[in-house]
Amino acid sequence: MLSKLDLDYLRSVQNLSLKHLGLTKSNPSVACLIVDFTKDSKGKVISFGLTNIDGNPHAELTALKKIKKNNKNKNLTAYVSLEPCYKENLNSCSKLLHQYNIKRIVIDSLDPNNFIYRKGFLFLKYQNHKVVLNNKNSKFKEINKFFYINKLKSRPYITLKLALSKNGYSKDKNKKNITSKSTQNYMHHLRLKHDAIAVGYNTLITDNPKLTCRLQGINKKLKKIVFVKKKISNKTNNTNLINTIHVSDTNNLKDNLFRQLSILNINSLLIEGGISTFKLFLKYKIFDEVYLTLSKKIIHNVNSKYRFNFRLIKNLKEISNNFYGKDQIIVYKNTDV
Ligand SMILES: NC(=O)c1ccc[n+]([C@@H]2O[C@H](COP(=O)([O-])OP(=O)(O)OC[C@H]3O[C@@H](n4cnc5c(N)ncnc54)[C@H](OP(=O)(O)O)[C@@H]3O)[C@@H](O)[C@H]2O)c1
Repeated sequence: MLSKLDLDYLRSVQNLSLKHLGLTKSNPSVACLIVDFTKDSKGKVISFGLTNIDGNPHAELTALKKIKKNNKNKNLTAYVSLEPCYKENLNSCSKLLHQYNIKRIVIDSLDPNNFIYRKGFLFLKYQNHKVVLNNKNSKFKEINKFFYINKLKSRPYITLKLALSKNGYSKDKNKKNITSKSTQNYMHHLRLKHDAIAVGYNTLITDNPKLTCRLQGINKKLKKIVFVKKKISNKTNNTNLINTIHVSDTNNLKDNLFRQLSILNINSLLIEGGISTFKLFLKYKIFDEVYLTLSKKIIHNVNSKYRFNFRLIKNLKEISNNFYGKDQIIVYKNTDV
C-alpha cells in the first residue's frame, strides 16, 4: 500500500526525472531517491540519482554509489520513477538494490519495454523485498511519452509546430519572427526534448535556419533533417550538415519516413514547418502532437498560400491552451495513433 508520504516522495521523483529529459538518448529519463526511515518515520533522503546524460549509468546505480553498501540494520526505501532493470546474467539495477539491502522499493511505473517488463519487479519480490507499485498516479508515461511510443508502437514520436500571426499567416515578408523571444525560448525547450529537428526545403533555402537548441548551459546535439520532393544537388546551400529525407504526397509517406528515421536512429522528431510541410504531415495524420504558436501580430501583403486554414485542425483534441506573454500556445493531440 502507498501512504501519503510515499506519494509525496514519488512526486519528488517524478519532478526530479524532468531534469535530464531529452538528454538520455534512447533511454527514458528516470530518477531515484534513497530514503532512510531507520530513525525518522518521515524519512530522510540520503541519496538521489538521475539517468545520466546520454542514458547511462541508470538512476539507481548513481544513487546507490553515494551510500554505504551494508545496510542490513537500516530501514531504507528506494523511490524510483521506473521499474529497476533486470538482466539475467549481467549486473542490473534490481540486483544492485538487493545487494545494498534496500528493504522497500516503491516504483512509479512498470517498464513498457517487453524485454524488461515486470522482470525487475518480480526479481525483487522473490528476493523478499517489499515492492510497491504506483499504477494510479503514475506520471512516468506522461513524462517519458516519447519512450512509451518507441517501445509500445516501435515508431518515433512526431511533433508538428507552426507559428502563426493573428490573421493566420505563417510567413512574414520582412523575414521577422512571428512570435516573441519568450515563445522562441519555450520552443528551444521543445527542441531539447527531441532527437531531431526537420524543416521543409523552402524553409532551409529562404531562412537558412541554425536548427540548434540554444538554451544556456545545455549542450544538446539535434540531428537535422530537410524534407525534399526531388533529388537536390550537394552544392545546395547549407545541406551538407543536414540529412535529406525524400517526401511525397502519397500513402507511402508514413512508412518511408519511419524507415528513414529508424536508419538515422531517431526516436523523436520535431517538424518546424513551413506551412506546406506542416499541411502534408497533417493530411496523412503523421504526428502525435501539434503545437500552434499564435501571436497578436497582423501580417499583410504575403501570398495567401502561407495562410493557415484553421478548419484543418478542427477535429484534433486540444490538450492545452496557454498564454506566454502576448503569444498563445495551443497543443493538440492525435487521438487516432
Ligand atoms: N511560421 C512558421 O512556423 C514557419 C516555420 C518554418 C518556415 N516558415 C516560413 O515558411 C516559408 C516556407 O514554407 P513553404 O510552405 O513554402 O515550404 P516548406 O514547407 O519549408 O518546404 C516544402 C516545399 O519545398 C519545396 N521543395 C521540396 N523539395 C524541393 C526540391 N528538391 N527542390 C525545390 N523545391 C523543393 C516544395 O515547394 P513546391 O510545393 O512549391 O514545389 C515544397 O512544398 C519560409 O519562407 C519560412 O520563412 C514559417
